[in-house]
Amino acid sequence: MDRRGFLASLIGCSALSIYMLNKANAAIYQNITELNEKFIRENAPDGVYWDALHKHFIFQDDLIMMNNGTVGPMPEPVFNTLVKYFKVQATNPFDCYNYFPKKREEVREKLAKFINAAPDEVVINRNTTEGMNLIASGLDLKEGDEVLISSHEHPAGIHPWKMREKRYGIKVTEVSLGVPPKSVDEIIKSFKNAITPRTKVISISHTVYITGLIAPIKELSDLAHENGIFLLADSAHGIGMLNIDVKTLGIDALASSPYKWLGAPTGCGLLYVRKDVQDIIWPSIASSGWDTHEDASRFETLGQRADPLIFSLGEALDFQNIIGKDRIERRIKTLAGYLKKELQSIPKVRLHTSLNTYLSGGLTAFSISGVDPERIVSFLREKYNIVIRTIGRESDNTQGVRVSTNVYVSFKHIDMLLEGVNHLARRGT
Ligand SMILES: Cc1ncc(COP(=O)(O)O)c(C=O)c1O
Repeated sequence: MDRRGFLASLIGCSALSIYMLNKANAAIYQNITELNEKFIRENAPDGVYWDALHKHFIFQDDLIMMNNGTVGPMPEPVFNTLVKYFKVQATNPFDCYNYFPKKREEVREKLAKFINAAPDEVVINRNTTEGMNLIASGLDLKEGDEVLISSHEHPAGIHPWKMREKRYGIKVTEVSLGVPPKSVDEIIKSFKNAITPRTKVISISHTVYITGLIAPIKELSDLAHENGIFLLADSAHGIGMLNIDVKTLGIDALASSPYKWLGAPTGCGLLYVRKDVQDIIWPSIASSGWDTHEDASRFETLGQRADPLIFSLGEALDFQNIIGKDRIERRIKTLAGYLKKELQSIPKVRLHTSLNTYLSGGLTAFSISGVDPERIVSFLREKYNIVIRTIGRESDNTQGVRVSTNVYVSFKHIDMLLEGVNHLARRGT
C-alpha cells in the first residue's frame, strides 16, 4: 500500500491497527536515522536530507505552507500517535486512567529536557494565551504597580494585563520597538528608560508576531533582575523554531504554543515557571493540589485532559530530537537569511525584520510599496499554492505580509515566492 493509500485507510477504516501505526512510525524514524548517518550535521543545507524529511509531512495537494502562525502542520508520526491514543479511549477507556497519567509525566520530563528546565517547572496547558493569563492574573500586584509591555505584543500579551489594569488599577506602559530595531542596545535602552520604582513586571514577546523580531530575552532578563522586576516571555512561536534554553535566557516564566513550529497537535501548550518564583504566583484554576503541590503542577489542576494530545506533543519532541534542535534552528535561519537577502534586492520591497541572526528567526515580514498585502497573499496562493499571511497595522507602518520558513520549506519554494514578489513589485498587481 502506498503512503496516500495508507493514510486514506487510517482515516476511513474503523478498525485502526495500533500495530500498523507503530510500524509506520518506526519506519519513519529508521529513515531519519539513516539520513542522519549519511548526511553529517553541517552537510546538506538543501537537497536530499531536507527533501526526504519533507516526505514525512502529509500536505494536501503539495501545499507549500509558509505560515506557522495560528497552527502549523503535524508530521506523520505525530498524527499516527494522535490516532493511536484516541483509539485507546474509544476501545478501552479504562486505560485512560490506568496508565495515561504516568505517560503524561514522561512527556513532561521530555519537554523539560527539551528546554533545559526541570520537570517540576513545566506546566502542560492549552496554549500561550492561557499561560500569559495565568501569570498576569496570578502575580500579587497592587494598584499603581506598573507592567512594561512592548508596542508589538500579540493580543494574548496585552489583554491579560489590560483586564487587570481595568479591574485592579495597575498601570500598563508600552515601550516602543523599532521596525526593525537596530541593535540589542537600542531595545535594552528603551526598556531601561521606561523603568520606574513602581515597575514590577516586564512582559514581552520573545517571538514578535508583527515583525519577526526575536527579542533579546537574556539581556532583558538581566535588566529586569537587576531592578527586582519579574520577566515574562511570550514565546508562542519559539518552541520548535529556536533551540530554547530557559536557563540561559534567565526568564521567570515563558509561554509557548507547540502546535505552531514544533508539530504538536492544537490543544496543548507549554508554560515554564522558574522554581524560585512559583511561590509568588497564584493558580487561576483550582482543584485539589492547588494549595498543597509544591511545584508547577499547582498551576495544572485542570481536570481531565485530552491526553492523546499530550502524548502527540511527546511524539513531536521525539521527531525534533531525532533531527536535532540545533540543526533545525540553523536550517530555519539559513532559509530566512536567504529569503531576506533576496527580498532586499527587489526594488519597492521593505523588510520589517532584522538581518541580524540574533534578532531574527524563522518569521520574515515585509511590504511592497503600492501593493495591497491581501493581494500578495492571494497571488502567491493562486499562482504557486504558497500560504503566507497578512500582518501589521497602519499606525506604525508595519502593514505587510509574513512568511515562515520551517524545515519542510526548501530553497526552491523560496525562489517561487521571490518570483511572485518580483512580479508584484514590477507590475503592481
Ligand atoms: C506572539 C504570539 N503570542 C501569542 C499568540 C497566541 O497563541 P495561541 O493562540 O496559541 O495561544 C500568538 C499567536 O500566533 C503569537 O504570535
